[in-house]
Parts: sequence; structure tokens; C-alpha cells
Amino acid sequence: PLVLHVLGARPNFVKAAPVVRALDELGVRQGIIHTGQHYDALMSDVFFADLGLPDPVANLGVGSGTHAKQTAALLVGLEDVVTEQDPDLVVVYGDVNSTLAAILVCAKLGVRTAHVEAGLRSFDRGMPEEVNRVVTDALADLLFATSPEALAYLANEGVPAAKLHLVGNPMIDSLYAALPSLDPAPVVERLAIPARYAVATLHRPANVDTPQAAKELVDAVLEVSRQIPVVVPIHPRGKIRLAEAGLVDGETVKVVDPLGYVDFLSLVRGAALVVTDSGGVQEETTVLGVPCLTVRPNTERPITITHGTNRLVTPALLPAAAEKALADGAVTPAGELPVLWDGAAGPRIAKVISAWLKGDNLAP
Ligand code: UD1
Ligand code: UDP
Repeated sequence: PLVLHVLGARPNFVKAAPVVRALDELGVRQGIIHTGQHYDALMSDVFFADLGLPDPVANLGVGSGTHAKQTAALLVGLEDVVTEQDPDLVVVYGDVNSTLAAILVCAKLGVRTAHVEAGLRSFDRGMPEEVNRVVTDALADLLFATSPEALAYLANEGVPAAKLHLVGNPMIDSLYAALPSLDPAPVVERLAIPARYAVATLHRPANVDTPQAAKELVDAVLEVSRQIPVVVPIHPRGKIRLAEAGLVDGETVKVVDPLGYVDFLSLVRGAALVVTDSGGVQEETTVLGVPCLTVRPNTERPITITHGTNRLVTPALLPAAAEKALADGAVTPAGELPVLWDGAAGPRIAKVISAWLKGDNLAP
């Protein structure tokens, strides 16, 4: 049997690495299809290197575009390659457009699918990712959830229990695997920043796609920078608009290119505070025990609030929340990490997939 992983964007690579490694250990034949949704070296290649991912068997090079144009290119490219490779199972990750396109193509081709990180819900259909999550979960044959809430949402939506598996969080497997190499000192030295700093990452369309939203956010981040120097590894999406809104290199703000996985997590590990709108970063700060302020009205990862260091804030409330977080340090209400965020999600997923492949599920 053949398993294909469809990956396209930065967070996909981080989630897939432990699954690929664990399937390898079980001797499962597999390959990676890179859609090319993210293509800059710092958004793609560096992750394959840092995470030890094997080279893709195909790169579709779909690149950027509007949702319709990008998704259309993904659909056309994926239909060809999935037909040609004829896999027994396609594994998709997270909630990006590459995930949506892959699940749709496979559903129409009659190819079975597994969704890693199923069941996350912000209940905000204004987020492109929420649309991708709902559609992906409706079509997947195997659903791997990272938290009990996610599992409960899927059950409520009527997904049969036989398809559901609570396996923990593969993004945290990658974090634990990298942990011994996470050292803030060399990154701090290279970026020439003080030893006490905050890190900010901002790329949600609702935060960076309009000049008004960008201005409100940048004003708040600049105010935080009067309390503590802020390093901003800038996602290409917000680069221009955030700069136009005033997020530029200065005495207390350092805007740098996106960082590689190990460099970024090293920086986060040594940070006094993280300000973000990323999904994955909410989870990583929870495990690293770094206070995290998420500038969003909602989160599909509420477990990072109940069992982690995460708080939701509006731009207007960010400066005061930062002051409090810097004074209090990391506060985790439950006092314990989410269940099964233990570094062994990849092996759990691989075990289910391997048993599934040995069952009577193979394509005729
Ligand atoms: C995508 C995901 C988002 C995820 C994020 C992770 C969708 C709908 N969104 O958002 O859920 O949180 O990835 O980082 O799939 N660009 C480059 N170089 C690249 C890639 C993108 O310059 O390598 C620029 C292009 O101008 C592009 C823009 O970034 O138009 C947005 O890229 P896109 O992949 O469409 O969405 P993201 O905002 O990256
Ligand atoms: N990340 C990174 N370099 C950066 C910013 C983020 O390596 O400059 C990592 C981060 O540690 C996490 C992943 O990228 O593992 C999250 O990706 P992103 O925030 O782009 O996407 P999201 O999680 O919001 O979908």
C-alpha cells in the first residue's frame, strides 16, 4: 500500500514530520506531495531541512492567488498527481487551502483520506480556515483530533465514532524533537537584540489585509514595544501592509525575515512574551510555558487558554494585557498540559493508519 501526504504551507510541514517519521518506522511506503502553496525558501525549504522531512515526490508549484484561483490550481494539479500515484490513503493536515483542495479531489476520485488536526472550530465562518476545516472534516475517512473538545465537536456534527481518534498533537511532537537544539543565545546575538524581549507574529487576513486593521494592530504593538523590545519575524502576507502602518525597524522594534523552525522556536523559548495571531504558536507557547497574547476575537484552540498560557486580546487591550503578562509571567489555569501533548502523537497516528491499511480498506 501507498500513503501520500499533501503538504503546502509552513504549519503543514511541522505537523507532518512526526507522522512521516513514525510511518517510516513501521515500514509503510509513503511520499510527500508539495503543492507549492508556500514556496519561499524561508517558508518551505528551511522546514524540510530543520524537520528532516524527505524530499517531495512531486511539487505542483501552485503559488499564490485569490482563494478561487489558488484553490482551482490546487484542484487541477492534485487531481493529476493523485490519479497518477494511485495511493491507498492520502493524509492532509490542518486547515490551509492545500488541505481543502486535497480532500475534495480525493473525495471525487474515491481515494480514502485521513485528516490530522481534525475538529478544531472557531465557529467563525469569516475565517477562510474555518471553511476549510468544516469541509475537510465532512469528507475525511479517518479523523485525528488533538484535543477532547475537537473530538466532541466532531461527534456533535455526526461523525461516526469509528472514524475518530484522539491522538494528541503532532505539532508538539516536532517541538519536543527540537527541544534539545533550542537555544535562544545565538539567535539573540545574530539579531542583535537585548536578552529580554518579546516576539510577535502576525498574518491573519482580519489583522493584516486592510490598512485600518493593520494600523490598529501596529499602534498596539508599538505601544508594547515601549515596555519591552519586540522582534517581529514577518510573514510575507503582512509585510507591506504592516510596514505601511508603521511597523518598521526602530530602536525597540526589530522586523526580520521569517525565521527557520529551530531559530524561531529558540527565540520563543527565550522570550518574556509572545504576541501572535498564529494557530500553531498558541500551542507551542503553551508547552514552552511562555505567556502568549493572541490578537483575535476567538480561537479554534481553546485548550491553550484552559490548559495553557494563552489569552485572547483586542488590539486596544493588548498594551495593558502585555503589562500584566510581563508582571505575572506564564499563568496556566489548569496547571497541566493538554492530555496526550506528550510527543507521541505521530506514533499513535501511524499505528492507526498502519492497522487501517491492513484492514479491508484498500482500494480495489
Ligand atoms: C496560509 C493559510 C493560513 C496559515 C498560513 C500559515 C490558507 C487559506 N491560509 O496563509 O491558514 O495560517 O498559510 O503561514 O491556506 N507569500 C509569499 N511567499 C510564500 C507564500 C506566500 O510571498 O512562500 C505571500 C504571497 O503574497 C501570498 C500571501 O503571502 O499572496 C499569502 O499566501 P497564502 O498561501 O495564500 O496564504 P497565507 O496568508 O500564507
Ligand atoms: N514559525 C517559524 N518561523 C516563523 C514563524 C513561525 O518557524 O518565523 C513556525 C511556528 O513555530 C509554527 C508554525 O511556523 O510551528 C506556525 O505557522 P504559521 O503561524 O505560519 O501558521 P498557523 O499555525 O497560523 O496556521
